[in-house]
Amino acid sequence: MKLKHFIEKRKGLLMWVLFGGTIVIVFLLGLLAASVNERRAEIATLFSNKRVEITGIESRNEIWGENYPREFETWQKTADTSFQSKHNGNKFVDVLEQRPEMVVLWAGYAFSQDYSAPRGHMHALDDMRHSLRTGAPMTAEEGPQPATCWACKSPDVPRMMAEVGIENFYSKKWAAFGHEIVNPIGCADCHNPQNMNINISRPALAEAFERMGTDIGKSSIQDLRSLACAQCHVEYYFKGDGKYLTFPWDKGMTVEAIEEYYDEAGFTDWTHKLSKAPMLKAQHPDYELFKLGPHAQRGLSCADCHMPYKTDGAIKYSDHQLVSPVMNIDRTCQSCHRDSKENLMKYIYEYQDKVLEIRDRVEKELVKAHVGAKYAWDNGATEKQMEPVLKQLRAAQWRWDFAVASHGASFHAPVETQRILAHSLDRTYQAQLEVQKVLASLGVKGEIPAPDISTKEKAQEYIGLDMKELRAKKEVFTSTIIPQWLEKAKANKRLL
Ligand code: HEC
Ligand code: HEC
Ligand code: HEC
Ligand code: HEC
Repeated sequence: MKLKHFIEKRKGLLMWVLFGGTIVIVFLLGLLAASVNERRAEIATLFSNKRVEITGIESRNEIWGENYPREFETWQKTADTSFQSKHNGNKFVDVLEQRPEMVVLWAGYAFSQDYSAPRGHMHALDDMRHSLRTGAPMTAEEGPQPATCWACKSPDVPRMMAEVGIENFYSKKWAAFGHEIVNPIGCADCHNPQNMNINISRPALAEAFERMGTDIGKSSIQDLRSLACAQCHVEYYFKGDGKYLTFPWDKGMTVEAIEEYYDEAGFTDWTHKLSKAPMLKAQHPDYELFKLGPHAQRGLSCADCHMPYKTDGAIKYSDHQLVSPVMNIDRTCQSCHRDSKENLMKYIYEYQDKVLEIRDRVEKELVKAHVGAKYAWDNGATEKQMEPVLKQLRAAQWRWDFAVASHGASFHAPVETQRILAHSLDRTYQAQLEVQKVLASLGVKGEIPAPDISTKEKAQEYIGLDMKELRAKKEVFTSTIIPQWLEKAKANKRLL
């Protein structure tokens, strides 16, 4: 068909298409101009209202608050402890009391003494100082933990690293920096004060990406809205005698790739007190698991659900109260999904309930496997005989921990989390089977005696913990050393 002829014939239609197209373009340009103007106006207001000039690593959040009162006020609300969803929230919850099985799973490791659910960022330092896991160091040179433990708790960490050197920081004892690390997770953890861009302040994250061949400095803004969180909400370990904080991602970020990394490095967090298995402790691989879920695969970042926009008159800003998105469904899920609040909550709770159903099975069976292994040792099993048992126990518990230690995973990546738990259950039964083989070869008959671990106290007694003594020592530490640390920090103006 000749072009002229075509135009003649379709003139009416073309006119309408042109007309419609023009309207759409004008509308879109209008939107763009409006949003650019709005954003410009916001940023201009932000910077022209700067009241103090911030230089260097400023860990005192109150000083940043002078310039950015909205972000500061919402950030302060992470102190709130009144919200509870079906399975999470910011209330204090003693997890060992809820699930005493975990005491047995962590026998021989500090987590069996004390483990509570995460709360808001404002409590990070306090919760850590008061946890039995940090012990009761009365001097700067003693105590069970290295300074590396501070790494995910405060903007004073990058400040001290700059002052004493990264390696030097990690290799000290935890108590060495008690009077320096005093401001809760805040602005300097995530921002560059010059332009308020997201700044990766933790070397471990940048180093991990570097080993994978990626320059984190070239990340998009959308990626940075997750990477800011990946400085802390990840799997990690303390490498070597210098306790150098390391993210084990060299072979990939899946549960299997990280296990392979640890196996190859011959790394073990602790030897299980009952089964003597060489154990791994998963930390909180929120970032790694989130990346495998449906939302990350559609390009979402942590901040899309955990830092929704808020408006104050004409100003749109990011809510810095990092909490469960269930608290603000209207500003989180509903900013993208046209669905009722009830339905959206139902999705979340259904994903979680299904994962927790398997988790509870795994915990009960894993306990039996450890107790069975102990029974085999007690009946004279040899190291050679126990080797297959211990191998399965390490693999089973690593998978369980990886799936549940990150409290958001059952929603962030429900299918991956179910997959990991299924493998954990499989390994747990294989461990039990191997125990039975050992017992049979030893000629031991009958049931494996089951301990009474119906409460946290009973479970702690069963694994041989003297909780009274641990608590008494901690009490001395909290009533004498902590006040000294804070007093010194105030005198040095490190704490306002
Ligand atoms: C400097 C380390 C660090 C960074 C960076 C960090 N977090 Fe956290 N986060 C923590 C710690 C530690 C806790 C637990 C505090 C406690 O229980 O006392 C926590 C707790 C949380 C909680 C639980 C709050 C509650 O109410 O139960 C959420 C949600 C959370 N973080 C989300 C995020 C998101 C999203 C980001 C990124 C925008 C982020 N965090 C960045 C260390 C960090
Ligand atoms: C856990 C990381 C984290 C912490 C801690 C944090 N921010 Fe942010 N902040 C972000 C993220 C993510 C954004 C969104 C950046 C984007 O989308 O470009 C943001 C955005 C901002 C912005 C730009 C305007 C806006 O609201 O979107 C300002 C200003 C700001 N933060 C101030 C602060 C101040 C002040 C503090 C300390 C009281 C603070 N932030 C603590 C992660 C953090
Ligand atoms: C699509 C929305 C969405 C995104 C994106 C998202 N989360 Fe979540 N997150 C949730 C929901 C929903 C929960 C479950 C909250 C509940 O049970 O109350 C949750 C729970 C959590 C929790 C546990 C909160 C608690 O109260 O203990 C943490 C920590 C967390 N997310 C961190 C992250 C991090 C880090 C990222 C990015 C790597 C991220 N989230 C990305 C929706 C999201
Ligand atoms: C920034 C936008 C955004 C936000 C915020 C958001 N989602 Fe989504 N969500 C998406 C997109 C995009 C998809 C993929 C849609 C598709 O494939 O049809 C999705 C998919 C889902 C799915 C289907 C998952 C699957 O397996 O494919 C569920 C359920 C869901 N979202 C629930 C929620 C809930 C609950 C929240 C709040 C905690 C939330 N979303 C927050 C954008 C968002």
